Amino acid sequence: MTSVLTLADVSVRRGAKTILTHVNWTVDDGDRWVILGPNGAGKTTIVQLAAARMYPTTGTVDVLGERLGRVDISELRTRVGLASAALADRIDPSERAIDVVRTAAWGMTGRWREEYDDFDNDRAVTLLNVFGVGGFANRRFGTLSEGEKKRVQVARALMSDPELLILDEPASGLDLAGREILLGALSELARDPFSPITILVTHHVEEIPPAFTHGLLLKDGGVVAAGPLPEVMTAENLSAAFGLPLEVTADSGRYTARAAASNR
Ligand SMILES: Nc1ncnc2c1ncn2[C@@H]1O[C@H](COP(=O)(O)OP(=O)(O)OP(=O)(O)O)[C@@H](O)[C@H]1O
Ligand SMILES: [Mg+2]
Repeated sequence: MTSVLTLADVSVRRGAKTILTHVNWTVDDGDRWVILGPNGAGKTTIVQLAAARMYPTTGTVDVLGERLGRVDISELRTRVGLASAALADRIDPSERAIDVVRTAAWGMTGRWREEYDDFDNDRAVTLLNVFGVGGFANRRFGTLSEGEKKRVQVARALMSDPELLILDEPASGLDLAGREILLGALSELARDPFSPITILVTHHVEEIPPAFTHGLLLKDGGVVAAGPLPEVMTAENLSAAFGLPLEVTADSGRYTARAAASNR
């Protein structure tokens, strides 16, 4: 199996703050990873490295066969589809949802080309439909609800047919139905052998789509556990990561967690 992403002894420091410390992590071709951990654990920092948006302070990061620091980072970025709150903030609220998705084909925000070919158009519409927001294609992005915006962003991240897809908290702000539609679509994507290697960041085990294969559990910038989901999503590991005794159940690929009976 070929490695798509390798972090070797990676640390990230900003001033006196150590954000990631001695992280080792390998993502192989075909893997679908979930990154889980409390606020401030370093999840967004790790995906910024994986998306070639940031360099490590020490250690090495290899993304899609390229070592960060040695390659043209802008070219590498076009091979990674990313949906994150920071990127969403850069989207012009007056842009129509369909254009938010279509412009991703050129790795940019903002509509600049008057003519889109039919292929791009059809693909953007299909992706919006997959995530249940096809009806909003012509609405201004700024008029969409938070959940609708999230779904448009996931469609956008997939538009350029990336080799690596990274979704930083795509389910936050979604209502129950919106979350379930998103999880269903992500699960379907995860089952498709031709879809990109996917990394999904979340705070909640309930948001792990069935068919995802691996988990990375972070706390205070370090790895608590990493590996196949059933081995990682245990009560012991999650309790350690979140600093609270937890009970964890798994049913047909869906996980739930709640405080252990002694702590309720
Ligand atoms: N430029 C910076 N300078 C100082 N500290 C920073 C900087 N960027 C991030 N941090 C800190 O690093 C820690 C990890 O941040 P990160 O955004 O990776 O966490 P996260 O796991 O994504 O958290 P959340 O679940 O809240 O999104 C946080 O404590 C954050 O305040
Ligand atoms: Mg974050």
